[in-house]
Amino acid sequence: MAFKQTILCIGAGYVGGPTMSMIAKNCPDTQVIVVDLNEARIKAWQSETLPIYEPGLREVVDEAIGRNLFFSTDVIANIPKADIIFVSVNTPTKTYGQGAGRAADLQYWEAVARTIKEHATSDTIVVEKSTLPVRTAEAIERILHASQNGVHFDVLSNPEFLAEGTAIHDLENPDRVLIGGREDEQGQKAIQTLVDIYAEWVPREKILTTNVWSAELSKLTANAFLAQRISSINAISALCEATEADVDEVAHAIGTDSRIGPKFLRSSVGFGGSCFKKDILNLVYLCEHYGLTEVAAYWEQVVLMNEYQMNRFVDKIVSGLFNTLVNKRIALFGFAFKANTGDTRESPAITVTRRLLEERANVVISDPQAIPEAKHDLADVIDHVEFSEDPYEAAKGAHAVCIMTEWEQFKDLDYQRIYDAMLKPASIFDGRNILDHAALGEIGFNVYPVGKHAIVNG
Ligand code: UDX
Ligand code: ADP
Repeated sequence: MAFKQTILCIGAGYVGGPTMSMIAKNCPDTQVIVVDLNEARIKAWQSETLPIYEPGLREVVDEAIGRNLFFSTDVIANIPKADIIFVSVNTPTKTYGQGAGRAADLQYWEAVARTIKEHATSDTIVVEKSTLPVRTAEAIERILHASQNGVHFDVLSNPEFLAEGTAIHDLENPDRVLIGGREDEQGQKAIQTLVDIYAEWVPREKILTTNVWSAELSKLTANAFLAQRISSINAISALCEATEADVDEVAHAIGTDSRIGPKFLRSSVGFGGSCFKKDILNLVYLCEHYGLTEVAAYWEQVVLMNEYQMNRFVDKIVSGLFNTLVNKRIALFGFAFKANTGDTRESPAITVTRRLLEERANVVISDPQAIPEAKHDLADVIDHVEFSEDPYEAAKGAHAVCIMTEWEQFKDLDYQRIYDAMLKPASIFDGRNILDHAALGEIGFNVYPVGKHAIVNG
């Protein structure tokens, strides 16, 4: 079958893979080719075991793969075929040189831009899908148009707002799709091309078009606001613990104000994930770059509060276990940064594990999806950590259980059985406030939630 157009996506990660699968599913007359330099990742996309765990993704891929969705490692050969190229490569925080620890590392992006320039043979729309600092599109345009070879490139910003664990739902029913482009005629034409793709399944009024810089900045701002809500409620959780207020009651009470709204007010051990910290630091760096010191300090506090919350959680474990953790067995239930994903990037569990090890505890990690990633994250201390798929095994002989991820299955465990197999006094530190604390107290546990009073039995 002849396809109406060809989309190429460079980068087959958490964003590129699911997004392109959804486009392919909904636009059967468009050929969608996803490429990545990582051969193992591409093989996994073509296999029975996808490289990322995401509920519903299998069905979407199955519907389109081989029909109009293809995965390949050949970046160069596929560039000339593409009418539209999405770039969805990683943009981690820089670890070296100017802006280290804050600015986005754009080396992968620039390498891709140069490859596109070298191999494109006809006019092409280049879409920023990765989260990028504001005004990156401008730099990319300059690279693409340096030493003109007659090929014209339009650069659009189309940030992705999907959240992991609910990616398929978010892609199928997005709150909005955001497309930024140049305001000239050529730019507007490019925007329209992308609008037409999303309009195959997204209601037109949910497709927002803006200038490029607004689109780039909106992505950073959305993540900063979301993370700010979590840090705000976490700040209040510390005050709740000091005053016997209950953070869930406070969150409910303020969330019923329609101006505040109920979402993203779950107090926890802290936020993780590949986006929040990276994007806020990126925003902070941008503000500093423009001399906006107070604005930078304001947003940086969101990250500092998150670190405070993770450290506060460990401090609570230390004091709850009589100020020494040496040789105490501590079971972590969950290692993923949130439920329904195997992703552990910036997971609070990493920080907590490392601090527990510093206190010379014996840490046992149980997670339904994230054990392979956890082993990778903890490679340098792997001799000091145990892993067990089975939470009952992990808890056997432990002094404490810590809930690190809000997996549904942790709610339904037989906590009497867990209590019976633990050393006494047995403690539970619920970093997600998902358990029935009163019931645990009845069993005999010492229970330490977040932002609520502790139950101390012994
Ligand atoms: C986030 C944004 O939600 C998404 O729009 C963007 O595209 C990418 O970044 P993600 O990181 O996948 O998505 O997950 P999210 O659901 O936002 O959770 C981030 C972290 O915040 C998790 O560690 C989660 O456990 C934590 N969280 C979330 C809370 O601690 N409390 C809450 O109320 C909500
Ligand atoms: P995200 O969460 O933003 O999707 P990931 O790290 O999961 O980020 O995915 C980014 C992908 O981009 C990785 O699989 C990586 O191999 C790929 N990648 C990075 N640079 C290039 C490149 N120059 N060409 C092709 N793929 C690349």
